Amino acid sequence: MGIFKKIFGRKKQELLEPIDISVLEVDMHSHLIPGIDDGAQTMEQTLELLQEFSNLGYRKVITTPHTMSDYYKNNPQIILAGLADVKKALKEKEIKIELEAASEYNLDADFEGLIDRKELLTFGANYLLFELPFFQEPPMLDSIIWKLQTSDYKPVLAHVERYPFWFKDWERILDVKARGVLFQLNINSLTGHYGAEVRLVAEKLIDHNLVDFVATDCHNINHIGVTKQALKYPYLHKVIKEGKLLNNQL
Ligand SMILES: [Fe+2]
Repeated sequence: MGIFKKIFGRKKQELLEPIDISVLEVDMHSHLIPGIDDGAQTMEQTLELLQEFSNLGYRKVITTPHTMSDYYKNNPQIILAGLADVKKALKEKEIKIELEAASEYNLDADFEGLIDRKELLTFGANYLLFELPFFQEPPMLDSIIWKLQTSDYKPVLAHVERYPFWFKDWERILDVKARGVLFQLNINSLTGHYGAEVRLVAEKLIDHNLVDFVATDCHNINHIGVTKQALKYPYLHKVIKEGKLLNNQL
């Protein structure tokens, strides 16, 4: 079946009662340190978003500002200083949520040096969140995966469903998985927020039981609204009910 038939020929999905997302316990991909990437820009926005996470029932948020050699030149010192400021503000405002920070590393020219120098923020059992550039698969992807693994990191690929160069290359997605990379899926992908093709890949990943973590990838209050919608989508219910997600172990 062609992709257009798949997208436009499908029956409208019945939406369900919103699922209780508190079973996940932990969100491990978001951009909530104010002013250091394209996420929250002010402490006020940060606190509003964290209050929303608390209202949704999350016990803990592990926020992951971008580290990118060109746009967001973050490092552990910058991120951890921002984390300390946010934790202080959370306490003052009496917002009840645990907060940690790691980073979402872009696989760019500087990344290999960060691995060599061990300048990487991880979460849980040495999980390392990384993303790929959106325009093409980097030629060094396999060697970087190997380097991370032999350096005792557990690589987690962010929003696997969002890379256009893999929309029609399912075999490559399986190959990356077979190399031992853990897969994170954006909850908001299931609503079509990033487009119909992203949604199809997200659903296929769930159908094939390939998802290890789901996350909001929240940048702003609009993303929270989409996540609340996503709670009604059958595929979110399906991936949570499979019981294979690792979020609540963090
Ligand atoms: Fe992100």
